[in-house]
This record gives sequence, C-alpha cells and structure tokens, in this order.
Amino acid sequence: MRKIAMLGSGFIGRFYADSIVGLRSRDKIVSIYSRSEDKAIKFAEDYGVAFATNDMMEAIEREDVDTVVISLPNFLHEEAVLACVKAGKGVLCTKPLGRTAAEAKRMLDAVEKAGIFHGYLEDLVYTPKFLKAVESVKAGALGNILWARSREAHPGPHSEWFWDKELAGGGCILDLGCHCIEIGRGYIGKDIKPVEVICWADTQVKPIDAEDHAIGMVRYENGAIGQFEVSWTFRGGLDLRDEVMGSEGTISINNFLRTGFDMFTSGEGYDYVAEKAESNKGWIFPVGDEIHELGYNFMFKDMFDAMDEDQEPNETFYDGYVVNAIMDAAYKSVQTKKWEAIEIEDWRGQEGVQPISAQRDYDENHFLIKEEMTHYGAKKYIIKNKATGAIKEIIEE
Ligand SMILES: NC(=O)c1ccc[n+]([C@@H]2O[C@H](COP(=O)([O-])OP(=O)(O)OC[C@H]3O[C@@H](n4cnc5c(N)ncnc54)[C@H](O)[C@@H]3O)[C@@H](O)[C@H]2O)c1
Repeated sequence: MRKIAMLGSGFIGRFYADSIVGLRSRDKIVSIYSRSEDKAIKFAEDYGVAFATNDMMEAIEREDVDTVVISLPNFLHEEAVLACVKAGKGVLCTKPLGRTAAEAKRMLDAVEKAGIFHGYLEDLVYTPKFLKAVESVKAGALGNILWARSREAHPGPHSEWFWDKELAGGGCILDLGCHCIEIGRGYIGKDIKPVEVICWADTQVKPIDAEDHAIGMVRYENGAIGQFEVSWTFRGGLDLRDEVMGSEGTISINNFLRTGFDMFTSGEGYDYVAEKAESNKGWIFPVGDEIHELGYNFMFKDMFDAMDEDQEPNETFYDGYVVNAIMDAAYKSVQTKKWEAIEIEDWRGQEGVQPISAQRDYDENHFLIKEEMTHYGAKKYIIKNKATGAIKEIIEE
C-alpha cells in the first residue's frame, strides 16, 4: 500500500485521486496540499484524506507519506521535486516535467543523485487502446514503424496560469505536444534517438503570447517520423487520436471524442458530458469511464507496482526530460523555420541505428514493388530488376 501526499487539488489532482482511491484501491492519499486552505480541506473531505494544509513542505514531510504526486502548475514542478528530494520521498510528477529541457534536466539529476523513485505521469501512453496498440506493434503486427501521428486538440485549458506564457512555459506545444511526442516515441521505440524537429506554430485565435495552434514532425535516427498536431483553438471537445503506419500495417485510434458512445438529449437535467465537451445537448459523445479511457488507472498501477518491486516504471523523469528536449527544438524551429537538432545531454538508447529498410524480394534478381489482385481476376506483380533498375509488371491471369 502506498501512502501518498497529493500536491494540488485542482483539475488533475482530482482525476488522479479518483483513480487512486476511486475504486476502493489499496493505496491511500494521506495528505493534501493546496494553495488555498479551504480547497485543501474540501479535497480532504471528498477523498477521506486525514491531513490538509496550505504548506507544501508540511504535506510532503509527514512521516506517514512515502510517495508524493505533483499535480501543480508547471512553474511549481521544480520547486516541488526539490522539496521531495530534500525529504527523501518517492516522487511522481505530472506532464510536462519541466517548462524547458534545462529545468527537466535539473529535476532528473536531483532525483537520480538522491536515489529516490521517480515517475513521469504521462497518462496517454497508458490508455487501454494505446497499450494494446503498442503491444501489437512490439509483436511486429505493423512491421517497421514509419510514421506515428498523434493529435490532441481542444478549446483550451481551464485555469488562468496555463494562458500565461511565463508560468506555463509555452502554449499548446508544451501543454499538449508533450503527450503526442511521448506517444510517438512509444510507437517508434523509446530507444530510437529523436534527431531533429521541424515545427510550425502560430497564435491564431486567443489573445495570448504563446502559440495556440501547432504542427510538428520529429525525425528519428532510423528515419521514422513522429508527427504531432496540437491546438487550443479546436471546437467540439477533446480530440485525441493516433494513427500509426508501418511497412506491414496501420493502426488508427480515437481515444476520446468518438469512443462508440453517441447520445441525443434536449439538454434538460444534463450538465457534465466529458472533459472539455462544449455542448450538453443535441447529439453528444460521452465517454464511458474517463479515468480508464485516459489511462490514469493503468499509469498509477505501473508506478506503484514498480515502487513495490524496486523497479523503474515505464515512464521516468528521463522520459520527461527527452520530451522537453524535443519541445525545446520544436520551439527553436518555429522561430528559424528550419529543421532543428534535438540536444539530449545523456542519450541512453541505441546509437548509430541504420535507416529502416523494408524492401522485399520477388525473386533472386528482382525486388517486389507491389502485388495486387485486380477486379478482373488477374494477379499483378510490379517488380524491379536489381541490376538494371528496370521496372516491369507480371500478370497472372
Ligand atoms: N492529462 C494530464 O496528464 C494532465 C491534465 C491536466 C493537467 N495536467 C498537468 O497538471 C498540472 C496542474 O494542472 P491542473 O489542470 O490541475 O491545474 P489547476 O489550476 O486545476 O490546479 C492547480 C493546483 O495547484 C495549486 N497551486 C498551488 N500554488 C499555485 C499557484 N501559485 N498558482 C496556481 N495554482 C497553485 C492550486 O491550488 C490547485 O490545487 C499541470 O502541470 C498540467 O500540465 C496534466
């Protein structure tokens, strides 16, 4: 059983609490810190937490706490992580780890030097659909992964600090791109080095300094591309989709906006539909179990199992740091309008990986370009001579 101090009682703090204690889990939140004492007390009442405070250190240092969950705004992550290091408590931090790679690296160095458990709370690589998809990819169902596209778009976040570029560290690239980038790494392989990024971003709708809309491509050492599409200006709810293309297959996932649950209502007596839904009447698209669909349960299970077994979880501060390094390069590319190199100070994956090659032979002397059964019953092979480069087709009637 983990005994947890929760830092932050806001939007994500409550989702996390719902998943940690919601289904009579064996883990327990024993202390809650919130900036306002009233909100800390309300959270304590809602989740049966014995101790509530508006003093962060007090929440962390309590003797009965062994794990700290950071659900605080981005500008407080480093301070909170360093407080956990000082207290020697295991720490799980929400996304993005830092506002910059430098900030994330300081956090990574601090937890590793102190030898404390660290987990990066990136729930979207724990959704049931993602877990199943990645399992299939690892088993080879898609062959070589060439392209992994991940999209997160919604009408914008819900608290004031997100909209302040300094406090949040950026706009939708930092807030949503971090999810998409880690999803891309998951499909392409976390041990494959991300090499460079090209990114377009703009502020098109909201009166803010940060970007509200962006599209980027991350090129990996083996030639695979991780594409991220993010927006704080999308209308119609929370759009969370992945599309993966490999040499032997494709996967397409809709995690939230269309999960196969359509409802029509006049709107009478119905207010909450799903996270960031913009309408509660007409045709609406509820989500059966948001906590599950968004991966929170599976994420905490991985974290707490790893802690119990003295292992690393699937997502550590190192992953958070790599994601921040990719986003730093994306922000640079937005300025220069060029591919920008990703600077990772201590790359821990494979080095010198060769470009993907999925070419197939037709026979000893020919490559197979394509085979197809036609509607008129002929089988066609398009082949290329290995020596001359000549391309021709063979038709079997
Ligand atoms: N899917 C996800 O993983 C996900 C979703 C939403 C948010 N987040 C992350 O969680 C973190 C918190 O986001 P949120 O949406 O819960 O925010 P929120 O504004 O709803 O909650 C912030 C909490 O921090 C506390 N706090 C302490 N000091 C503060 C200060 N100086 N200013 C503002 N709040 C202060 C507030 O009292 C509140 O309890 C962010 O890093 C965000 O990126 C993750």
